[in-house]
Amino acid sequence: MIGMKVLRNEERVVIHRVGMVVLLSLLVAALLLPARAQEEEREINIRIPVGDVILAANAQLRSIEQTKFVKETNARSARVLAVLAQAIIDNDEDAPFRKTAPALRDTALELAKAETAAEAKKTLAKMKKLTAQSEAPEPNKYDLTQLADVHTLMEEVGNRHARLDKVFRKGAKDSNAAQHALVLSVLANALIKNPNGLEKQTDIDSWKEHAETLRMGSARLRVFIGEGNAAESRKSFERIGKSCAECHEKFKKE
Ligand code: HEC
Repeated sequence: MIGMKVLRNEERVVIHRVGMVVLLSLLVAALLLPARAQEEEREINIRIPVGDVILAANAQLRSIEQTKFVKETNARSARVLAVLAQAIIDNDEDAPFRKTAPALRDTALELAKAETAAEAKKTLAKMKKLTAQSEAPEPNKYDLTQLADVHTLMEEVGNRHARLDKVFRKGAKDSNAAQHALVLSVLANALIKNPNGLEKQTDIDSWKEHAETLRMGSARLRVFIGEGNAAESRKSFERIGKSCAECHEKFKKE
């Protein structure tokens, strides 16, 4: 009887130990697995269709037309329109409107210089009868730094990001959310091409990396919003937020 008892106790200890090891392994696996899954991004096609860029440019023009003229706001919105027009030209997909996009870009730059509401109105009237070139323009030839400086780009980045923030943090409905993400991606591309006067190559590389994270993140966000995938959309939005904070920490002077 005594012998039996001892044996059972030893058995129990062994079983207990095995149990602990299994439990610990499960715990470690549980801790490691989600971390791995988070690192892996789902492969998706982030190419932005040219038709969607054209829609975004149209929406931008409509918003300028409907906003009461304030010189600085008009200038910023017009420059963003010019950046969108150039994004139509630089898109790898062809569309008949690409022949008209250079005129849209140049008229938008003219609009950005308007001093008065009357001047803006006159230039906006020109936008209604833009002349198409006979040949489609060559992509990626225009110097994007001529369209908008970093301050202007950043104001619009802040504006579009704030509207997405309402959707993802406050649960607001916004039928234009995918379009805001598209514009963010186009603006980020302009940031990549405009390293804000930085001179050291390591700084320039780092700037481009942050801007690329914003570009990719926004392009992914656009796709996930289109799919109605709330979980992935929120994840992409949070990743975008990190790129803002990291780039500001490094390059934004107070
Ligand atoms: C590649 C670097 C970089 C990234 C990425 C970036 N920013 Fe900025 N941001 C800057 C710099 C530099 C400035 C200062 C620009 C200036 O005013 O001259 C700035 C300024 C700003 C401003 C102030 C604009 C003003 O009125 O002066 C806002 C708002 C802003 N950023 C929002 C954002 C948000 C939101 C994101 C992410 C969605 C973001 N930024 C991502 C570099 C970056």
